[in-house]
Amino acid sequence: MDKIKKKIKKLLKKIHKHNLLYFGKNTQNISNEQYDYYIKKLKILEKKQTNFITKNSPTQSVSGFIKKKFKKIKHKTPMLSLNNAYEKKQIKHFIKKILKKNNNIKNILYCCELKIDGLAVSVIYKDSKLFKISTRGDGNIGEDVTKNINMIKNLPINLKKYNNIPSLFELRGEVFMLKKNFIKINKKLKEQNKKIFNSLRNAASGSLRRINSSNFLKNKLNFFCYVINWSNKEYFPKSHFNSLKFLKKLNIPINENIKQCKNIKEIFNYYKYILNIRKKLNFEIDGIVIKVDDKILQKKIGYSSSYPRWAIAYKFPSKKGITKIKNVDFQVSRTGILTPVARLKPIYISGIKISNVNLYNFNEINRLKIMIGDTVTVSRSGDVIPKIINVIKKFRPKNAKKINIPNYCPICNSIIKRLNEDINLYCLNSINCIAQSKEKLKHFVSKNAMNIKGFGKKIINELVDKNIAKNPIELFKINLLSLLKINRINIKLAKKLLKSLKTSKNTTFPRFIYSLGIPKVGITISHNIAYHYKKINLLINADIYSLNSIKNVGINVSNKIYFFFQVKENLKMINYLISKEIGINW
Ligand code: IVH
Repeated sequence: MDKIKKKIKKLLKKIHKHNLLYFGKNTQNISNEQYDYYIKKLKILEKKQTNFITKNSPTQSVSGFIKKKFKKIKHKTPMLSLNNAYEKKQIKHFIKKILKKNNNIKNILYCCELKIDGLAVSVIYKDSKLFKISTRGDGNIGEDVTKNINMIKNLPINLKKYNNIPSLFELRGEVFMLKKNFIKINKKLKEQNKKIFNSLRNAASGSLRRINSSNFLKNKLNFFCYVINWSNKEYFPKSHFNSLKFLKKLNIPINENIKQCKNIKEIFNYYKYILNIRKKLNFEIDGIVIKVDDKILQKKIGYSSSYPRWAIAYKFPSKKGITKIKNVDFQVSRTGILTPVARLKPIYISGIKISNVNLYNFNEINRLKIMIGDTVTVSRSGDVIPKIINVIKKFRPKNAKKINIPNYCPICNSIIKRLNEDINLYCLNSINCIAQSKEKLKHFVSKNAMNIKGFGKKIINELVDKNIAKNPIELFKINLLSLLKINRINIKLAKKLLKSLKTSKNTTFPRFIYSLGIPKVGITISHNIAYHYKKINLLINADIYSLNSIKNVGINVSNKIYFFFQVKENLKMINYLISKEIGINW
């Protein structure tokens, strides 16, 4: 095959993989810059050999092109999540607490609804016209996706005329994809040799968050409103149930399967009924939502920082699958913790391929009594990470193997230790363990740490493997020539990377603390520490008691911080990083 054709094919494969991660799983494992770089490279190659341009190349179809360039929108009130329950007794407890808030007067009505599996959006109407649609984002700031309105089939742009309707109000609801559209879209993607969406939820969120809406996504999403969040005048009924019903008169879609329940018995009957009709629905649900119907009582009950206390999601039992454990490997983390990971014979649970499951530690392995070769039940509830819930003993083969506590690090071969009461196993060869060096560097460059753009996981792995940069100091000392030794880095990208190294040096104190990767020191603690000490030397010399006095810093964390600054190599590295030679400053 022609060299250029081969290169194009390889790039297309790579870009499709990242498209899937971004659109399908709403995550990414390379930076935006790196992605843009692939696209650029593809364009150059295609220009050289125009007869190799395929119809489904991301340079040709708008659909494949991703840019995270949505305008940001600050939500007037945070977009919260829901508290979850899986068992009857949790619902009983919820009801008990509600009753207590109502002075144990039992005449409360509950509005029961479907818990639709899609993505939450905020929809603002102004003068009876659709004004803004935004995603949940981080709960406070979402993405403005208004221009993708043509994807949502049933959301009216103009409301039906109605008396004295408030001139400004915000609805919240779920955007989701019908099963038939999911099949259609995946068929089309397959035809175009593109990766398919792996769940209805991902398909909905991947589509709505697409920068360039393409024709084939037109009308492929639907919307159900589940709450009126605010309006600029008192207008809507005081009953949540009646409010939703009222919205129908304005042509705003709500799900018809809502029911006012008087007591727990009626709630459980509703749950059973919905569980029965679940399969017949033309969209996916993962439970029901129980809400206090009276908005005045809702207000009285209030909110926690992440969910309304007047509502709860009663989720359907998690989805399960049965498969075999092929092997158990140990992964080494940034802080040297060895985590056992079960390699599975791949299974699909609600459309997601699962090949690995984290086993956390030996307590978990012993609790489950797992052996290599065992047949196990794997469960995945909602978006949650898959886990092994039990071993099916009768299928245990004769040659099943015990999982042994490793004596040596699988990466650097140094002796493994268990520290005091800690359940974890540690590779203590901190600076000489390649796995730890890689993970430490990845953490150092990450967005919330030094934010050194362009250094994706693959580049870091190669930098360490090729012995070019194994720690932050070596990273800052890197030059153009050594960067060019890395696969896929050309002069242009190398220059860009050097520039991002340089700009990252102007940072903030909390970022710098976080980038050090002190065990248990996350973003919040880094902020608190920075705010408390203000100067790096004061932090370095702080004793355990002083550290322990800081908000969120318990005795365990204080110990970790204290010991981090007792290690000579760590101090040497910090001093060098902030010295004139490297020049990190804040
Ligand atoms: S009420 C303050 N009602 O579930 C209102 N949420 O797991 C909070 N969801 O982020 C949400 N169906 O996107 C509500 N009938 C329903 C829902 C629903 C689906 C989603 C929603 C929320 C998520 C929480």
